[in-house]
Amino acid sequence: MKQQETFSQDEQSGKWWQQAVVYQIYPRSFQDSDGDGIGDLQGIISRLDYLKKLGITAIWLSPVYKSPNDDNGYDISDYQGIMDEFGTMADMDELIEKAAAADIRLIMDLVVNHTSDEHRWFIEAASSPDNPYRDYYIWRDPVEGEEPNGLRSIFSGSAWGLDESSGQYYLHLFSKKQPDLNWENQQVRKEIYDMMNFWLGKGIGGFRMDVIDLIGKQPDLELTANGPKLHDYLQEMNQASFGSYDVMTVGETWGATPEIAKLYSNPARHELSMVFQFEHVTLDQQEGKEKWDLQPLSIRQLKEVLSKWQTSLGNQGWNSLFWNNHDLPRIISRWGNDQQYREKSGKLFAILLHMMKGTPYVYQGEEIGMTNRPVKAIEEVEDIESINMYHERLAAGFPIEEIMTSINTKGRDNARTPMQWDDSETGGFTTGTPWLPVNDNYHEVNVKQALADPNSIFYTYQQLIQLRKENPLIVWGEYELLDTADTIFAYYRKYHGEKWLVVANMSEESQTLELKDKVKDQIISNNDSLTVEAGNVLLQAYDAFVVRV
Ligand code: GLC
Repeated sequence: MKQQETFSQDEQSGKWWQQAVVYQIYPRSFQDSDGDGIGDLQGIISRLDYLKKLGITAIWLSPVYKSPNDDNGYDISDYQGIMDEFGTMADMDELIEKAAAADIRLIMDLVVNHTSDEHRWFIEAASSPDNPYRDYYIWRDPVEGEEPNGLRSIFSGSAWGLDESSGQYYLHLFSKKQPDLNWENQQVRKEIYDMMNFWLGKGIGGFRMDVIDLIGKQPDLELTANGPKLHDYLQEMNQASFGSYDVMTVGETWGATPEIAKLYSNPARHELSMVFQFEHVTLDQQEGKEKWDLQPLSIRQLKEVLSKWQTSLGNQGWNSLFWNNHDLPRIISRWGNDQQYREKSGKLFAILLHMMKGTPYVYQGEEIGMTNRPVKAIEEVEDIESINMYHERLAAGFPIEEIMTSINTKGRDNARTPMQWDDSETGGFTTGTPWLPVNDNYHEVNVKQALADPNSIFYTYQQLIQLRKENPLIVWGEYELLDTADTIFAYYRKYHGEKWLVVANMSEESQTLELKDKVKDQIISNNDSLTVEAGNVLLQAYDAFVVRV
C-alpha cells in the first residue's frame, strides 16, 4: 500500500495522534501505592480514572525500566525489566491493558543514546578491550595523557570518562554513569530494534525518544547533535520496528529548526511522527550560553518563535505543543505569577497553548497549577544536572547566591516534586517519606481542591481538551498571528470558513485591545466578568479568552 506522502489536513484522514492530548507521567513522583516514598505503576493504575476525567488520550511514561537511578531512570540497566521500586512486568502489562480499556495509549520513553554503566553490555565492554561488547560503546585512547578532545558533558565536565583498567576513555554526553552507545555498530542498532519490538508487541502506543538527535554523533569532530547518519538510523529504525504499527513517535530534539523538524516528521521520509522543539524554552537564557545564564523573557520573541513553528511546517511536519516537562521549571513560576495570579496565569498558558496547532502535552500537575519549589541550599537538591553545575560553577568562582538563583529558576527538581493529590500529609502522594519533598503549597494546590472548585485550572484544561475533541478547527485550522502590543499574544485559527480569535494578555498591566471583528460567541476565558465585543476590549492582568468571530 502506498503511504500518504504529506499530512492530510482534515479530520477524515488524520492520524489518531494528530488529535491526541498527551499527559506526561514522571512515575517516581506521581503516586506511591506501597509507602516507600517512590511513585509506582500501581499508583498510576489507581489514578487512571482521574486522567480519564481530565480527558487526555495518551500517556507518555518517563522511564520505568531497571536503573540504578543516577539520572532517575534515564540511565537504564535493563530495557526489558521494570525498576523494582516501580513494580513488576505484570504491573506494566496491567497498566497497558487498563489504560487501553480507558482508551488511553501508552507511550514509552526510549532512551537509546546511552545506557547505564550497570547495563550488562557496558559491564562486558569495560571488562576488556577484546570483549565482543567493547564496540557497543565509544572508546578512545588518551591524547598526550589527557582526554581525547574537548567534548563536554551536558551534565558538566568532560564528556570523556577514564576507564582505569584499560587506560582508554569512553564517551558519556550525560553523567559518567550514562555511557553513550555506539550507533555505528550495526549489532547495537539491531539489539535496540529488537527491544523496541518487544515493547511494541505488548501493544504500546509508541515511543518518546530521548535526546534522539544525538545518536548520529561524530565524537572525533566534536559534533554531537544532527550528525550525518542521524536520519539514516531513524529510517532504518522505522523500518525495523514501529513502521508497521499504528503508533506515534516523538523525538526530543533540542537543536531542531523547522527545516530539521521536517526531516524527522515529513511522512514521506518515514521517520517520526513529530518532534519536541525547544526554541521557545531557551528564550530566557543568554544567547550562546547555558540554561543557567538567565535573562528575562521577551514576549515579543516568544510570539515570533511560536508563530514561526505554527506556520513553517505546513503539511510536511507536525508540531508538538508544551510548556512543561520533567526537565523544565513550572510554567506558572517561570513566565507567569505563582503567587497573586497563580490560577489566572495558569489558565492563560493553558488557553494559549491548547488553541494552537499540534499535539499538546500536559505535564503532571500542570493541570492543577503546580509551581516551582524553592530551595535554600544544595543539600536539598536531588537532580544530578543541578548538583554537577553547582560544583563546577563554585570552582569557577561564581557567587553561591547566583548559582542558587539559577537552580531555583531552572533546576529540574522544580518539576519533579511529588504530585499534590490532597491536603493530607505529603499531599496524598505517599504514606511514607517522599523521595523529594512535596511543595509546601500542597494545602491549597491539590487535585482534591481542584476537583471541588468548578473554577479551578483543572476544569480549564478539561474544557480545552474537550474543545479539541469537538472542533476540527483546533486540530487542523490555519494559524495567523495578530499584530498587537508586545505583551498581548493574539492569533486566529481558521478552518472551512470558521474563524476563532485567541487573545492573551501576558502581563500584569491592564491594557486595551482594539478588536475589529464582530464577535459571534465566547468559547472560553479565564475571566468570567469579561465580555468581548468589537471595539476596545479592556484586558486585566493575565486575561485570556477565545471567541468565534
Ligand atoms: C533527556 C531527558 C533528561 C535526561 C537526559 C539524558 O534530556 O529528558 O531527563 O536527563 O535526556 O537521558
